[in-house]
Order: sequence, then structure tokens, then C-alpha cells
Amino acid sequence: MVDADLNPQVIAQVRDATDLVEVVGDHVKLRKRGRKYEGLCPFHEEKTPSFSIDPDKGLYYCFGCHQGGDAINFIMQLERLSFPEAVERLARQFGVHLPPASPGARRRRQTSDRLRTVLEEAQRWFSEQLEAPAGAGARSELERRGYGKETWRDFGFGYAPDDWRQLLEHLSRRHPEGVIVESGLAVQPDSGKNPYDRFRDRLTFPVRDSEGRLIAFGGRILGDGEPKYLNSPESPLFHKRSTLFCLDRARRAIADESEAVVVEGYFDCFSLHLVGITHVVATLGTALTADHARLLRRRVGADGRVVLCYDADTAGRRAAATAAGVLLEAGVAVAVVGLPPGTDPDDVVRAEGGDAARALLAEPSSLVEFLVEDLPDERAARQREATELAALVGSARDPHIRDELFMELTQRIGFSQDVLRDLARRVGGRGGASRAPSARPSLGAGELFLARIILDGGARWRRLVADQVNPAHRGDERLGRLIEALRTFYGEDTNDDESFVRWLQENLEDEELMMLVAQVSAGAGPELTEDSIRLQLRRVMLEQWKTEANRLTAAIRRADERGDHERVADLQKQKGELRSRMPDF
Ligand code: UTP
Ligand code: MN
Repeated sequence: MVDADLNPQVIAQVRDATDLVEVVGDHVKLRKRGRKYEGLCPFHEEKTPSFSIDPDKGLYYCFGCHQGGDAINFIMQLERLSFPEAVERLARQFGVHLPPASPGARRRRQTSDRLRTVLEEAQRWFSEQLEAPAGAGARSELERRGYGKETWRDFGFGYAPDDWRQLLEHLSRRHPEGVIVESGLAVQPDSGKNPYDRFRDRLTFPVRDSEGRLIAFGGRILGDGEPKYLNSPESPLFHKRSTLFCLDRARRAIADESEAVVVEGYFDCFSLHLVGITHVVATLGTALTADHARLLRRRVGADGRVVLCYDADTAGRRAAATAAGVLLEAGVAVAVVGLPPGTDPDDVVRAEGGDAARALLAEPSSLVEFLVEDLPDERAARQREATELAALVGSARDPHIRDELFMELTQRIGFSQDVLRDLARRVGGRGGASRAPSARPSLGAGELFLARIILDGGARWRRLVADQVNPAHRGDERLGRLIEALRTFYGEDTNDDESFVRWLQENLEDEELMMLVAQVSAGAGPELTEDSIRLQLRRVMLEQWKTEANRLTAAIRRADERGDHERVADLQKQKGELRSRMPDF
């Protein structure tokens, strides 16, 4: 994670210091033409140059594939870095000193460091226990699975002894019990009794973030028993909904192949990595979330895809279909691997070896092919379930992906496209209306200004926006999302006023919103003065106020026509109240 306060001023500083020609020049052979430079676009295949750089503005654009942006966008896209990572990378290259995080963020950082130290000590201890006499059971479990000793250190296997306090006692020599509990390694019973070790008589393995830092543990029971796997609970370091297991080992390969394989199980992941199939990650005992999907979208890139390789049983097929929906909604292309019935990827590797697994992964089914297999034969039931498929396909956010899926669905089940689209629309999908997620136009001037106020206008105005501006009323839904995020931010009372941008970067895997933040802090525009802010907010509030007033007027008219006098009176009261809330600054 980037350990700096990336406020808009700092970002602007990095942008100013950056020489775009040099940055692009590391990847693309450039030729000067007048004031501009041109070369072959690194984002799509081409033989004649349509990629152009304007060094004065610090912007690039490709006339072929319409990718464009500034140096930060370029690095993000080409090296698949997150926004803060890209800023940090450029700051390093161009010698900009990044200020340390704000006091609130610094406090969070200290907590994290402390928890991490505890986890690291536990990891060392677990791996010692694996080699101790008590670790015999865990060692034979690893043997049974075919993991030789040379893999232990690599994957970080360990053993948590069959005892309630051994680890606690070991750690509490140097750390307060409260911290050990917060790290998730110990459980504090509600009764107020003494805490005890969470992991007992289990094979353990570390869970790391995308940079390889230890954030949690997983533990498998030895032999049969419940639960089979136990994970660390949520903590300041560990957020299940946005963590992908093994992403640290997989990120390079995912970027290289523009593809990520998602499996269900930890050992599916280990086994595939072990045989050299390394673009594989797993969710952590949860269904795939929208956060995972956005993370994967960034990692596989614009033309990439995610391949789902779930257990070949009823639960696995269902989970794969659900995950596919989540991915489509995030704008990611999906394919699915059908394994031999009753098996999971780990079984395939162990029974048939790495090459067999590689072969299966190399030829996944299309998503539609996979989904259609489960359709019943009986006509009415088939139609009903086809409707659900159409809805799933209709929820795809990327219009190209959606169109392709619709086409294939039509061919495979013999409904016409129109029928399907209509079905999809009725059950709430996006139907045919094309709305491209990439290449979004920038905000209108007024909206841009509001975004700047939120990001850069100071705590007082930011609070005002959070309290009074209705996110649903914004024309551009990204601005609505920004305001929602701001409300969440203030809702977590540990946050101080100044750290919003940093919080955004740490808590959101919403790439589109981060692009917006970048865009906004890059954008020129009127200076943010007390007066200009006041004027703009007044305009926004007035507009919101008018929308609300119009809504009430229309509702009053409708109620009146129905002769619903009670409702009319109620609405008129609301309108009176609204009048008294006319913005007054
Ligand atoms: P499975 O039950 O399919 O386990 O759960 P597996 O990976 O095939 O396990 P082995 O090979 O018998 O050891 C799939 C995944 O679901 C999560 C884990 O991530 C597991 O790998 N899970 C399962 C849990 O988190 N907790 C559980 O109790 C069970
Ligand atoms: Mn399994």
C-alpha cells in the first residue's frame, strides 16, 4: 500500500514534474512531429502510428482505440497499477517527495504495522511448530496432498497446536492481549473470560495482500471435522470482500496473460501454482463480490477476461453462475471451465497432472455454453429459466460483451434476439441500451466543479455536501457515487476531515471513481475561492430544491385528480416544509 498522503495538490505536483514523453518513451518508440510526438499505440495492435502525445498538455491519445489520458492513466493502464501505485511510481521516477499520510491515516498505519508484526511472529511460530514433534499430523496431511518439504516455506505452511493458549502465551510476552485479539489470532469470549487461541490443531497458511504482505491466516482441520477451513476474521488488515487469495503470486502472470483464473478452494490455488499455472486466485470462503470483480477487471485489463474454474458439482455450478453475473456487471468478460463431474481443480492436478489441468484451462467454455447446459428440456420451464439467463446477460455492463452474449444465447436456445432483449429488460437488465463503461466523457463544468469542491474545497464545504446534496440527483452517476462514498467516509467516525482522498484510495476498488478523482485534480477550472464555492453550491442546492418542488407539485396534481384530499394535504405540508428549507447561503 502506498504510504503517503496523496491529496489533490500532491497529485498535481507529481503530474507537473512528470515528463510524459519520457514515461511513454520507455514503452513506445516515439517520433517528433511539430509540437507533438507519435508512435505505435501500446494498447492495441497496429502497423501505422495513431498514438499521439501532446507534451505541453501532458496528455496522450490514440486515434485508433481511443485510449487517452495523462501520465498517471498511462502507467495505470500499461502496468496495471492502481491509482496510488501509479502516482508513487511517477513520484519516485521524477523525484517528487510525497508527504506522509495525515494524522488519521498515520494512526491507522501504526495500528496496521503493529498487527502485522504480531501476524509475522505467529507465522514464524506456526512454521516452527510444523517441524516440531507435535506437527506430525499436519506433516502427514501435507504428504497426503503431495506437497513436498521444499514447498512448505514457499507457501508458508505451518501448524497450530492442539492447545488453547500456546500461541497467546508466546505472543503476549511482547504484545498486549488486546492487539493479539484484534489481529484475529485470539478469540475474546463474550463472557469476558480469558481470550484463547483461534487456530487449534490445524494446518495453517498465510493470506497475503496483493503486495505480498501478511494480512490473515487460513487453517485446515486435520482429518474430518467442522469447519473444514477456518479463516481469520475481518480486521483492519483483512477485508474478505476485497481480498483475492494468492493475488501476490499471481499478479505478474495475470497482467502478462490478460487473464485470471478464479477457483473456489485454497488448495485448488496452491496445486495449480505448484505445477506452474500461476495466474490463479481464489476468493476466501465467500462468494465473489463486486469488489473482487473490479479488482480483477483492473488486473486483467480492458481486453482481458476472467476464467471461472469452480468445483464440478451443483453448488460449484451455481456459484460460478452467480460469480459470472457479478463479473459481467463490473464489465468483465467471463469464460468457464467445466471439470470432470464431481472434481475440483486440485483433484485434476493430483490425478492427471499439470499438463491435463493446463489443457482444460486453455479451452474454457463460453459463458453461454456453460449456462445453457443446465437448462431443462421441458418447454415452459426452459422458457422460464432462459428468461433468467437473458437477465444475467442483460446485466453485462460492457455493451460489446452484452451484444456478443445475446447473440450466442439466441443461437443456442433458438429465441429471437428481440424476444430475449425484451425479456431481459422486463426482468431489470440493461437490455439493448448501450452504455459504454470505458471512455466515459468527462463531467460537465458544473459537476466537475462540485467534484472539485468535494475533493479540494476544505472540510467545511465537504461536510455540507455530504449532509445536503442528494447523490441520486446528480446527472452523472459517478458524482453520485463520489457523494455516497463521502457519506460512508463520514459515517465511519474514526475518520478525520482531511483524509477523504486517501480514504478513497484505500477503501475503494472503484477504478472509475479513481479515474474521476484523477481527472478532477488534473482539470483546470475556476479557482476554488470561498465565493466561487458558495456560488456553485448554491446553484446545486437550488437545482435540487427545484427538482424536489416540481416533484411535489406534480404529485399534488395527481392526488388532486384522484380526489385523494388527505394525500393532497400531506403533500402540501411537505411542500411548505420544503419552502422553509430553501438554501440560504
Ligand atoms: P471445499 O469443501 O470444496 O474444500 O471448499 P476443498 O478446497 O476442496 O478442500 P480439501 O481439498 O478437502 O481440503 C472450497 C473452499 O471453500 C472455503 C475454502 O476456501 C475452501 O478451500 N471453505 C470451505 C471455507 O472457507 N470454510 C469451510 O468450512 C469450507
Ligand atoms: Mn473443493
